[in-house]
Amino acid sequence: MKEKIKEIHSKALSDISNANVLDELTNIRNIYLSKKSELMSFMSKMKELSHEERISFGQLINSVKEDISSRIEEKRISLEEEKLKDQLNKEIVDFTLPGRDHSKGSKHPFNAIVDQVCEIFIGMGYQIAEGPEVETDEFNFELLNVPKGHPARDMQDSFFIDDSLLMRSQTSPVQARVMLSKKGIGPIKIISPGKVYRRDDDATHSHQFGQIEGLVIDKNINMGNLLSTLELFAKAMFGEKREVRMRSSYFPFTEPSVEADISCFECGGKGCSLCKGTGWIEILGAGMVHPNVLRMCGFDENEYQGFAFGIGIERVAMLKYGIDDIRKFYTNDKRFNKQFYKE
Ligand code: DAH
Repeated sequence: MKEKIKEIHSKALSDISNANVLDELTNIRNIYLSKKSELMSFMSKMKELSHEERISFGQLINSVKEDISSRIEEKRISLEEEKLKDQLNKEIVDFTLPGRDHSKGSKHPFNAIVDQVCEIFIGMGYQIAEGPEVETDEFNFELLNVPKGHPARDMQDSFFIDDSLLMRSQTSPVQARVMLSKKGIGPIKIISPGKVYRRDDDATHSHQFGQIEGLVIDKNINMGNLLSTLELFAKAMFGEKREVRMRSSYFPFTEPSVEADISCFECGGKGCSLCKGTGWIEILGAGMVHPNVLRMCGFDENEYQGFAFGIGIERVAMLKYGIDDIRKFYTNDKRFNKQFYKE
């Protein structure tokens, strides 16, 4: 029997040392140490032995049992270590890889200009007004003195949704909306930033772009008020030394109409590539609100006058920040966006 036990012992030890995975150890424990194992079956045969033999035999079985058990434990620890090492080797972390970029974004140059312009006019007592981007023909054209068939419609050949609805081609309809809401009673002093849509597409024109509309309605408003307002704006936006000049122009909703230029901030008026040698940069359209518009929008044109202006947001940003292509505003490239606005 002792021979048999020794045989089992050495077989167990070789099984343990040959084991390669943890599951095999569980099997080995079952085979050699469970109640039904061959080794344990010797226990039941002990009663056939004499007292002394029983003692030495019992000690032998116990020591073999303990030895197998502790060898299994040692092997388990070493297999677990191996498994961990293996895993660590497979899951290589490359500490030299650059980390993910969680850098903070910044205000988009478009919004930076909107905020600056709004701040300047809020400082002059203006309020912000808003209108819908899907606008009716009535507000976008008719109430602004542009009836059906008027040639001025051609320049704003736009995105119509049906016969009477379009993506607004200008922010000017907000003028009509605000005037009608006031039911003929002034004063009004608003600016209205927002998106507008036209069938345009080149380096300086986009099918979608931003405008800021301005409107002042009150008694005794004249062109001097318009000029001084634009001068204040030009100086705050482009520097103290800026001068403003008005050139006669045409818009259906203003009479007289002007285009306003500022003295070039690049060359100070001497003439350079930015101002195309003229010393002046065109910055916005403006004029005195047309009596037809006042009347159609519920104001008595004999009592009230007003001026209005429209500023292109991207155009101001392109001039101020030296951006050469309007499409860069819409590509959402952080490297572009971050260059202009500093907190
Ligand atoms: N709505 C004009 C445009 O899109 C800009 C404009 C010109 C607005 C003169 C005005 C204005 O309010 O008085 O071309």
